Amino acid sequence: MAARVFSGIQPTGTLHIGNYFGAIRNWAALQAQRDCVYCIVDYHAITIDVDPQALRKASRSMALDLVACGIDPDRSILFVQSAVPEHAELAWILGCVTSYGDLTRMTQFKDKSASNAFVSAGLFNYPVLQAADILLYRATGVPVGEDQVQHLELSRRIARRFNSRFGEYFPEPEPIVGKGARIMSLSDPTQKMSKSAGEAHYIGVMEDEASIQRKVRSAVTDTGLTPGEEMSPGVANLFEILELSADPDTVSALRGEFESGTLMYSRLKDAVFEHLMAVLRPIQARRAKLEAEGAIEGILTDGAKKACAIARETMADVRRMAGLA
Ligand code: TRP
Repeated sequence: MAARVFSGIQPTGTLHIGNYFGAIRNWAALQAQRDCVYCIVDYHAITIDVDPQALRKASRSMALDLVACGIDPDRSILFVQSAVPEHAELAWILGCVTSYGDLTRMTQFKDKSASNAFVSAGLFNYPVLQAADILLYRATGVPVGEDQVQHLELSRRIARRFNSRFGEYFPEPEPIVGKGARIMSLSDPTQKMSKSAGEAHYIGVMEDEASIQRKVRSAVTDTGLTPGEEMSPGVANLFEILELSADPDTVSALRGEFESGTLMYSRLKDAVFEHLMAVLRPIQARRAKLEAEGAIEGILTDGAKKACAIARETMADVRRMAGLA
């Protein structure tokens, strides 16, 4: 069987540039070399309180974003997780070969449970469902941001434990961590870019140009450094974004200015804005076109059908191996 790639993203409404440069761009690139399965993980989304109406809309919207970002439904399988209920079935079985102690050590669970008043068992089992996502397709490569490396390590442990209890079956999935996995918030560059911190902290891939310009211009920098002093986190973050969107010559010219102490941050910000928009404009145009064509439902139905075919095969094997009907 061909080495397969699997990855998932939560339907959070819209992608930000941290998602794009840290993960999705890598997802798109991998399509040239591998069979790819990409999933919008709505079962994961309901581990915390979300409005059902908003969730359904967000899943469709995320699908549009992904196709606009280069996920090609003719080459890859793109689908919504809940359209393939085998994910939930496998998660139950894998939960029975997952160590409770391992789950208590997941840092993402610790973070999320600290900030929610109600902590669901679903939130605790989140990494088991993630393992099920990957193993259902017997994927060997998983492109993720570096914050998911711990979950991947657990997925491997779960695969190993399944194999030793029921027989050698699942390959152990390896993370594929792309560069640019760490874009920070614009207004607090000591924390990772995320939507949950609020509008000012992130740049949406589909955000309008004027708004992006405003955010880049008001990004936190510093009040000037003496030559030789280390770059402040905000400036380093702007360089990071520049590096991900501009050609090496542009980056090294501005880096040179920084090092000689002549760099005006307003110039750096203008360059960041200009090069970032050169990346985002074609994506935004593709999304508008796709939405107008109204093809996304068909794409997702087709993707779910292909995903189901693989999932059914895996589950028939797993049920047999585990002594289930
Ligand atoms: N937990 C991942 C995240 O928050 C999303 C995800 C769910 C995922 N299932 C997956 C990623 C399977 C990779 C593989 O980013």
